[in-house]
Amino acid sequence: MPVTVVVGAQWGDEGKAKVIDLLAADHSHVVRYQGGHNAGHTVVVGAERYALQLVPSGVLYTHIIPIIGNGVVVDLPTLFKEIDALEGRGISCAKLKVSSQAHLIFPWHQTLDALYEAGRGDDRIGTTLKGIGPAYADKSLRIGVRAGEVLDAAAFAARVGQRAAAANAIIAAGGGQPVDVDAVVDQFAELGARLAPYVIDTVELLHDALDADDAILLEGAQATFLDLDHGTYPFVTSSNPTAGGACVGTGIGPRYLTRIVGITKAYTTRVGSGPFPTELTNELGDKLVDIGHEFGTVTGRRRRCGWLDCVMLRKAVRINSLTELALTKLDVLDTFPEVNVCTEYDAGGQPVYAVLDGWLTDISAVSTVDDLPPQAKAFIDLVEREVGVPVRIVGTGAERESYVIWR
Ligand code: GDP
Ligand code: IMO
Ligand code: MG
Repeated sequence: MPVTVVVGAQWGDEGKAKVIDLLAADHSHVVRYQGGHNAGHTVVVGAERYALQLVPSGVLYTHIIPIIGNGVVVDLPTLFKEIDALEGRGISCAKLKVSSQAHLIFPWHQTLDALYEAGRGDDRIGTTLKGIGPAYADKSLRIGVRAGEVLDAAAFAARVGQRAAAANAIIAAGGGQPVDVDAVVDQFAELGARLAPYVIDTVELLHDALDADDAILLEGAQATFLDLDHGTYPFVTSSNPTAGGACVGTGIGPRYLTRIVGITKAYTTRVGSGPFPTELTNELGDKLVDIGHEFGTVTGRRRRCGWLDCVMLRKAVRINSLTELALTKLDVLDTFPEVNVCTEYDAGGQPVYAVLDGWLTDISAVSTVDDLPPQAKAFIDLVEREVGVPVRIVGTGAERESYVIWR
C-alpha cells in the first residue's frame, strides 16, 4: 500500500498541514517523523482554526490514527496543552500514539537554546527557542531521555534528576539560570505518568498497518532548506525534514514510499536568519506579508518574503525524490500586476526572473482549473516546466475547501 510523504520544499510554513488535511481523507495513519513543537501547522475548517505543534494534523479526522514517530523530539507540557485544547474543542486525541524511541525535551534544553543563541551574537540563527537543537544534541551524544523511559516511573525520575544536574553545570558555566532540579523532577513525574498510556512501539504498529494494506501519510515539519544536512547550514533546524528523514523518523524503509509531495508557496518566505536570494526588502515584500498574513504560527515573528525560487525547488526535487508539487497560497498573488519567478541564478549568484502578467482577479472561490484566470494557469505551467514535476494541488485560500486539483 502507498506511503505518502508531505515535505516542505522551501523554508517552512508552506501550508503542509492544509495539504495533509486534504490527503488525510484517503489515509488511515498520519505520522510526524521529525522536529518538535518548533512546528506550527495550521488547518482551517469553516470558522475553526487549529494551529498544531506536535499532534499530527490528521487528528481532525476520526478515522485517522495520529502517531508521533521516533524521529520527533517531544515537549510534554506542550503536548498535553495541545491535547487538552483539542479535546476542549471536541477533537478526540484518544487514538494518539507516541513512539517509545522518541526523545523528550526538558526545560534545560530551552535554557541552553537561549544561551547558545545569545552566544552567537549577530550570527544568531533565530531559533524558535523551543530547545530543539539541544534535545537533538543530547540524542546524538547518547545522553537523551526517551519516551519509553516513563514506563518505569522510579528510574525515569532518577534519570531526569541526573540529567537536570548535569545540564545545570553547563548552564552555570555559560552564565545562565540553572533549572530547579526538584521542581523539574516533580513536574516530569506527573507528565511521565500521563504520557505512559500513549507510549508504544510505533515501528511495529506501522509495519502491522503496512501488512494490513493501510495507507500511511508521513507529515514533515520544517522543510528541505532547514534540513540539518541539505539546508542553508548553519541557519537550519537540527533534524532531517527531507524525505530520507521520513524513513529514519518512522522506521518505514524507503521501498515503501510511493508518493512524495513537495509543498511550496507561490512565493517564498523564511523566518529567522540565513540566505534568501529572492527576498524582497521593499514594499512588494511588505505586501506579501500583509496579504499572506506572514507571521509565524508559533513565535508570531514576521516572515521574510520574496518571489518564488525554482532553483531551490529543482534542488528540492532531487533531494527528496519529489513526485509532485502542491502549490499553495496562489491567491496571495491576486492583486499583483506583475509576478516574478526566479528561473536561474546568474554568475554572481543573483536571481534571474521570468516576469509574468498578474491575473488581478480574486481566485479565492475558484475550485476548478477551468475557472482559473489564464495568467494564473500560465504561472502554474511555468512552475511545472521549470521544476520538472507535475503540480497536482493548487491552494486558493486557507480554508479546507479552498483548492484546485490541477492534474
Ligand atoms: P505549515 O507549517 O507548512 O503547515 O504552514 P503554516 O500553517 O505555518 O502556514 C501556512 C499558512 O497559510 C496558514 O495560516 C494556512 O492557514 C495558510 N494557507 C495554507 N494554504 C493556503 C492557501 O492556499 N491560501 C491562503 N491564502 N492561505 C493558505
Ligand atoms: P513548520 O513545520 C518555519 C526555523 C526557525 C529558525 C530555524 C531553527 O511550521 O514549517 P529551531 O527552533 O528549529 O532550532 O530553529 O528553523 N524554523 C521554522 N521556520 N517553519 C517551521 O516549522 C520552523 N521550525 C523551525 O525560525 O530559523
Ligand atoms: Mg508552520
